[in-house]
Amino acid sequence: MNSMQSMDRDIDHILVSEEQLQDKVAALGEQISRDYQGRDLLLVSILKGSVVFMADLMRAIKIPCGIDFMVVSSYGGANTESTGLVKIVKDLDADLTGKDVLIVEDILDTGITLSHLLPVLRMRNPNSVRLCTILSKPSRRKADIEPDYLGFEVPDEFVVGYGLDFDEKYRNLPYVGVLKPEIYSK
Ligand code: XMP
Ligand code: MG
Repeated sequence: MNSMQSMDRDIDHILVSEEQLQDKVAALGEQISRDYQGRDLLLVSILKGSVVFMADLMRAIKIPCGIDFMVVSSYGGANTESTGLVKIVKDLDADLTGKDVLIVEDILDTGITLSHLLPVLRMRNPNSVRLCTILSKPSRRKADIEPDYLGFEVPDEFVVGYGLDFDEKYRNLPYVGVLKPEIYSK
């Protein structure tokens, strides 16, 4: 497969390996299974970045749970339901009444998006709303929000892989890495 283009060669360095991700997801799944035993758990994935983490995490959770998906955006755009500073581009299908909602995210950066989304979900009468994120950039935080379940802290670098993209590419990398600078300036 000489002509096959490899994504790996665009990566400057790996921050979190595939094995580290697998081990962490298994541990998070065990902990969530214990914590939510006997509860009406609903996993809420914020598209698109969290789709890889969601697919792995849901299989690491050993208790019954539902899944749902949401698309949000921080800024304008037509045909969206405005809720303060967060726009719901695609809302949940599920009724949250009495549910124990666990938001599944790819990365908590400034925290601004989720700090606006959480009150919106809490208004829908769930039993609880908590946050599980595979990555966090604590040095970038602006809003008063921290994950209830966390995979890895990463430095203030733009990261790709395991769902995270640059220009919609690299989401399918099985690890988290930092792109070579020349990829940005192309
Ligand atoms: P907040 O509101 O926490 O937004 O600032 C978090 C969202 O920003 C995106 N984000 C990234 N996406 N590599 C990415 O591919 C990154 O390093 C990165 N940092 C933040 C991401 O969509 C996240 O949900
Ligand atoms: Mg995202």
